[in-house]
Amino acid sequence: MRLDGFISHATGASRREAQRYIKEGRVAVDGEISRDAAIKVDNRKVTLDDQHIVLPSPVYLMLHKPAGYLCANTDGQHPTVLDLISTQQHPTEPLQIVGRLDLDTTGLLLLTTDGSWNHRITAPNSRCTKVYCAELAEPITADAIATLKNGVMLHSETKPTLPCQIFSSSPRQVTITLQEGRYHQVKRMFAAVGNRVVSLHRAQIGELKIDPQLSPGEFRHLTPEEVISACP
Ligand code: URA
Repeated sequence: MRLDGFISHATGASRREAQRYIKEGRVAVDGEISRDAAIKVDNRKVTLDDQHIVLPSPVYLMLHKPAGYLCANTDGQHPTVLDLISTQQHPTEPLQIVGRLDLDTTGLLLLTTDGSWNHRITAPNSRCTKVYCAELAEPITADAIATLKNGVMLHSETKPTLPCQIFSSSPRQVTITLQEGRYHQVKRMFAAVGNRVVSLHRAQIGELKIDPQLSPGEFRHLTPEEVISACP
């Protein structure tokens, strides 16, 4: 990371302010005043006005997303999931939403300031599984389960879905485990076999299950073990 970016992340100052501190000779790298804003400072000691400054620890949250909240930073029409999180949870860096759930989908949603963790979970080739519980309009048939398990061609796509696991606890209640995350994937998969999702809830990402103590709209920090378990 560049020196000006490091100061900006560590202190919450803007890039321009950080560059001014550097120009003013207030910044030292490994004990030497540095006037080079572009110098790389990974694993080096940076001081500002003789105070050691460090990057804030990344933030990892799980939210029980309620229906009616949009997975977006801002929206003119609907409240967003970020409206449910108090600003003290991300003091210097903006929170990123890890993947998307539809407006009407409920359940496990992760938020973080750690872009590479976000990418590991959401990248198309991440193979990080997601478990959804769906209520269907019509009873599911054995044929439909077999088709979906093997992979189904979705409307206007060129490749079938990857193999997935499906378990039906009753004729209209199914649990589906996906290893990819296409747009509206669960709803489109059931539409492809002539059914319709009436309600959808995400229960798990990787090995990380939604905390049953969280009511819709509530969130909490993840433990270090949980951070790893979301994408083992
Ligand atoms: N699949 C969907 O169709 N909707 C979601 O919100 C998540 C997965």
